[in-house]
Amino acid sequence: MQTLTDPFGRTIEYLRLSVTDRCDLRCNYCIPRGFTDFGEPEHWLTFDEIERVIDAFGRLGVSRVRLTGGEPLVRKDLPTLAARLAALPGIDDLSLSTNATRLDKHADRLHAAGVSRINVSLDTLNPGRFKAITQGKLDKVLKGLMAAKASGLKPIKINMVVMAGVNDDEVEDMVEFCLAHDFTLRFIETMPMGDTGRSASDQYVDLQTVKQRLAERFDLIPGVMPGGGPARYVQVAGTPLKIGFITPISQHFCETCNRVRLSVDGTLYLCLGQEDKVELRPLLRAGASDADLQDAIVAAIARKPERHEFREKPEQVLRFMSLTGG
Ligand SMILES: C[S@@+](CC[C@H](N)C(=O)[O-])C[C@H]1O[C@@H](n2cnc3c(N)ncnc32)[C@H](O)[C@@H]1O
Ligand code: SF4
Repeated sequence: MQTLTDPFGRTIEYLRLSVTDRCDLRCNYCIPRGFTDFGEPEHWLTFDEIERVIDAFGRLGVSRVRLTGGEPLVRKDLPTLAARLAALPGIDDLSLSTNATRLDKHADRLHAAGVSRINVSLDTLNPGRFKAITQGKLDKVLKGLMAAKASGLKPIKINMVVMAGVNDDEVEDMVEFCLAHDFTLRFIETMPMGDTGRSASDQYVDLQTVKQRLAERFDLIPGVMPGGGPARYVQVAGTPLKIGFITPISQHFCETCNRVRLSVDGTLYLCLGQEDKVELRPLLRAGASDADLQDAIVAAIARKPERHEFREKPEQVLRFMSLTGG
C-alpha cells in the first residue's frame, strides 16, 4: 500500500469531499446573502467520477473520507453515493458534515449506507438567533439531530462557531445540551474565508477564553482523544462529554495537517487557507487512466503548503467556506 507524504513529512490520509457548493441555509460567516453564482451543474463531478477519484485516493493510502459541502444533503441521492464510497477498498471511515435540516429524512439511509458518524453545525439553541445567523429554522435542525441519534449514528459532534455578541453567552447552554443528548461538542474560531468570513472575524472569540470560562463551572480533564483532527479535546469530569476546541487563529495546528479537500467541480485544494490547487476534472473528462490520476494526485500533494496564513494575510482567501468544502 502506498502512502501520500507531503514535502513537510505529513502523511495525507484524509479527504474532505464537497458534493455540492449549494446550501439551504445562509450562515452569516459562510455564504453571502443573495448569492446565486454557484457552480454550473455540468461542472459537478458525477457519482462515477467521484467514485474514480476516491478509489484513486484509497489506493494511495487515504482511508478516511468526509462528505461535506455546501450542504451535502442538498445533493440528490447522497445515500447512494455514500454506499458506493463506503464499499471502496481502503476507505474504512466515511463521515458527514451537515446542517441537519434534511437529516430527519435521510439519517437511517445514510447510516445503512455506511456513514458511521456525523458532525452537525449548530451555533445557537435560540430560534430567533438561529434565524438571524442562518436564515433557517431551528426546529428542523433539532428534528434532524434527534433522527440521527435514533438511527444509531455515533458519535454525533456539534460544531459551534463562537461569535462575540452573537452566541458567546450560550457556550454553557450548549454544554448542557450536549450532556443531555450524549453529543460531542466542538467550538470553532471564525476564519477569514471570503468577505463573509472576514466580516464575521470582527466577532472573533479566542477560544482560550472560552475554555477558561468553562473551567470555572466544569471540571475539565485535558488531553483526551488526541491525534486525528484539528480539535484539542477536554472531558467534563464524571461525564462522557468531550469538548473540542478548533483554534485555527489562536493556536494553529498545521504541523499535524493530514488532509486535502476536493470541491464539487473536481478542484483539489491543498490547504483551506491558501489558493494552491490542482484541477482534476479536465483529467477525468479527457479519459485519463487510473495511473495518470494517481500520478496527478501524488504531484499535487508535493505542492501542499506548509501552513495557512489566516493571521498574517486575512485578506488572502477569496472563496468562502462552502465553495471549498469546509
Ligand atoms: C461549510 S460547512 C459544510 C457542511 C454543512 N453545511 C455544515 O454546516 O456543517 C462546514 C463547517 O464550516 C464552518 N464554517 C463555515 N464558514 C466558516 C468560517 N468563516 N469560519 C469558521 N468556520 C466556518 C461551519 O460552521 C461548519 O461547521
Ligand atoms: S456553514 Fe454549512 S449550513 Fe451554513 S451556509 Fe455554510 S454550508 Fe450552509
